[in-house]
Amino acid sequence: MLRSTYAIVDLKAIDHNILAAKAGLPEGTRMLAVIKANAYGHGLCEVGKHLDADDSVSMFGVAICEEGMRLREAGVEKPILILGVTDERHWDAVVRCDLTAAVFTPEQVYDLSAAAKKAGKNASVHLKIDTGMHRIGVPSEEALRAVLDAFERCPNVRMTGMFTHFAKSENDPDFTALQAKRFDSAVAAVRARGFSPIVHAANSGAILGAPASYSYDMVRLGIAMYGCHPNGKAGNDCGLIPALSLVTHISNLKTLGPGEGISYGQKYVTTKETVVATLPIGYGDGYKRCLSGKADVLIGGRRCPGIGTICMDQLMVDVTDVPDVKLGDEAVLLGNQGSERVTADELAELADTISYEILLSISDRVPRVYR
Ligand SMILES: Cc1ncc(COP(=O)(O)O)c(C=O)c1O
Repeated sequence: MLRSTYAIVDLKAIDHNILAAKAGLPEGTRMLAVIKANAYGHGLCEVGKHLDADDSVSMFGVAICEEGMRLREAGVEKPILILGVTDERHWDAVVRCDLTAAVFTPEQVYDLSAAAKKAGKNASVHLKIDTGMHRIGVPSEEALRAVLDAFERCPNVRMTGMFTHFAKSENDPDFTALQAKRFDSAVAAVRARGFSPIVHAANSGAILGAPASYSYDMVRLGIAMYGCHPNGKAGNDCGLIPALSLVTHISNLKTLGPGEGISYGQKYVTTKETVVATLPIGYGDGYKRCLSGKADVLIGGRRCPGIGTICMDQLMVDVTDVPDVKLGDEAVLLGNQGSERVTADELAELADTISYEILLSISDRVPRVYR
């Protein structure tokens, strides 16, 4: 039975955001849907299965092998690219599940080749180039030559793609252009050796900011697919629809007189007669404790201030100004109610983080309901 706290995931909003992102791209640009980290909190397999049937998505992006395996177990058939480093213990699983690994060292190519040989299969990989993010990827021209040598020696490992990742595409066009220039010379070097991978670089920042410039053959859409702009509030007007709402219902109501402390530490003290609603959600559900005393909750179509420290499983809200408030009333922590809205960007600013972390912090304890 569904608990009274849940997240509503609007799959139509995801579809809308994909089309909105595609609209600015050159005709024929392929789309990789980034669904790592539980599809940014929206549900890995549910979003994966939904988009597996969507012709506008060509490929999925996950961070680790286990996420790809879970998608295959759920019946997802489209190609799945592991964007991060694959642990060497997972090469067999990569081959078995037909996952596409990101590789950037000769050792990775040799190890995967051995696993593919053992299974009597070919493996498909995308070559990752480091152009300035300095996280993973081939770091230099010399290193690139060595990896290409390994590919030549291992014909059962097919380089079907190559990619890089932008570090500041949402707010630094000059650095993004520098990264693209470095990437272009790596692409030229790879093609000069006779390989013909599909090429991709753009994340949400590049897709929304300079759609035609960095689209190459494919783009990788992450946060924008879920309805947030990577640049936070600054990008609010780009027609994206947030796909996730976080909802609960009032579990207790009381009226306190002035001078009453609320919650752990009694950090909030009432100054007048106050109607206090308790909500069955807390930092154990991923509603961050650092939002204590900062974030509003929507009840009765109004913004109600959170009061006192957020507990692990519960929190308190001042509902004095909500007419006819009663037990069981809906409370929206993220999303719309009436004409009011709380966005992931708003909570991110209050929590000194980014919308990504707000969304994917929502814990497994919160059931996802799909619409
Ligand atoms: C390699 C790679 N590509 C694409 C993305 C998607 O980025 P965004 O969510 O900003 O679109 C990420 C996200 O972290 C990533 O690591």
